[in-house]
Amino acid sequence: MNDSRLNRPIIIDLPKICDPRGNLTFVEGGAQVPFEIRRAYWIYDVPGGESRGSHAHISSHSLIVAASGSFDVELDDGQQVSRFSLNRSYKGLYVPPGYWRTLDNFSSGSVCMVLTSTDFSEADYVRDYDLFLKMKADHAL
Ligand code: TYD
Repeated sequence: MNDSRLNRPIIIDLPKICDPRGNLTFVEGGAQVPFEIRRAYWIYDVPGGESRGSHAHISSHSLIVAASGSFDVELDDGQQVSRFSLNRSYKGLYVPPGYWRTLDNFSSGSVCMVLTSTDFSEADYVRDYDLFLKMKADHAL
């Protein structure tokens, strides 16, 4: 994986093994994604109209996958906002550290799977948007 992909969000096409019995997709840290996978979590049973996220990570890299259904991911680098719609379980959104993320527009029954590079640590979160903007301006994030 080209290291230039470490600095910006990008949709990654994951392998898709098509089979009449059902399709299969896999991901390996350091191969399809530019980080070693340390942790996985998933978000599900999201009530209509709810949003998740609204924070940035200081050092954690993520791959966000719509394992089922669809949702949108808004990424803010402090200057520009990009919006990604995820609705295929063989596509992942790579999110480097330092992006304010908000997930919304969840379809009924959707499952958001996130693979990350670090153990869970509240210290790795920035949950205050004004602090996020200040850290970006100070090049502290
Ligand atoms: P959070 O990351 O804020 O969820 P979202 O990004 O959807 O807003 O996490 C919500 C809660 O779950 C928070 O109290 C921390 C806890 N949590 C863990 O204990 N371990 C984990 O791996 C994650 C992702 C969250």
